[in-house]
Amino acid sequence: MKVSLIVAMDLEKGIGKNNDLMWHLPADMLFFKETTLNHIVVMGRKNFESIPEKFRPLPNRENAVLTRNTDFIAPNCFVFNSMEVCLKQYENETERTVFIIGGGQIYQEALENNWVEEMFITYVDHTFGADTFFPSLDFSLWNEEVVRSHTADSKNAYNFTVKKYTKK
Ligand SMILES: NC(=O)c1ccc[n+]([C@@H]2O[C@H](COP(=O)([O-])OP(=O)(O)OC[C@H]3O[C@@H](n4cnc5c(N)ncnc54)[C@H](OP(=O)(O)O)[C@@H]3O)[C@@H](O)[C@H]2O)c1
Repeated sequence: MKVSLIVAMDLEKGIGKNNDLMWHLPADMLFFKETTLNHIVVMGRKNFESIPEKFRPLPNRENAVLTRNTDFIAPNCFVFNSMEVCLKQYENETERTVFIIGGGQIYQEALENNWVEEMFITYVDHTFGADTFFPSLDFSLWNEEVVRSHTADSKNAYNFTVKKYTKK
């Protein structure tokens, strides 16, 4: 099993506000889609609920939702009551990657338990006043490589850069 993480953050490591994203960047959404397509996406219950009903589950991906509520139902998704149980479920996966897709609590938990071996971080070149943040990391423990750079255009209001990190 390979566990990756994918996130987009602003200049303050902000990832969301009022349980929503803070920007609309179709070019980065496309990168997210291309990267996670046909794989497994693991998300927190708040992140799941922030996705408009008509867009969930995320198509052509196995969607796993984490909640401590044992009665929670997420149509056409797999629901797990802990991240450990969730990852155990996928431990024999060889073809598909498990992508941790947030939000803040889920990133924090996956990273502090050292479950993540690869990260794709989109750095959005703006500050949005977030209420939810990506955890602080020791980047000396990770190799980094720029995989995409996008200059603001008529459809994407902000510059952004995507870096791929692999554990040293
Ligand atoms: N910029 C990005 O790349 C990005 C990506 C994803 C999300 N976001 C943003 O992040 C924000 C949401 O993040 P958040 O930190 O508030 O919430 P979250 O991490 O999406 O979800 C938190 C919920 O997950 C469940 N949970 C957490 N740890 C668990 C565990 N160990 N076992 C079982 N369930 C567990 C709990 O659900 P219950 O309360 O139901 O028990 C908890 O309330 C939104 O603003 C969203 O737009 C941004």
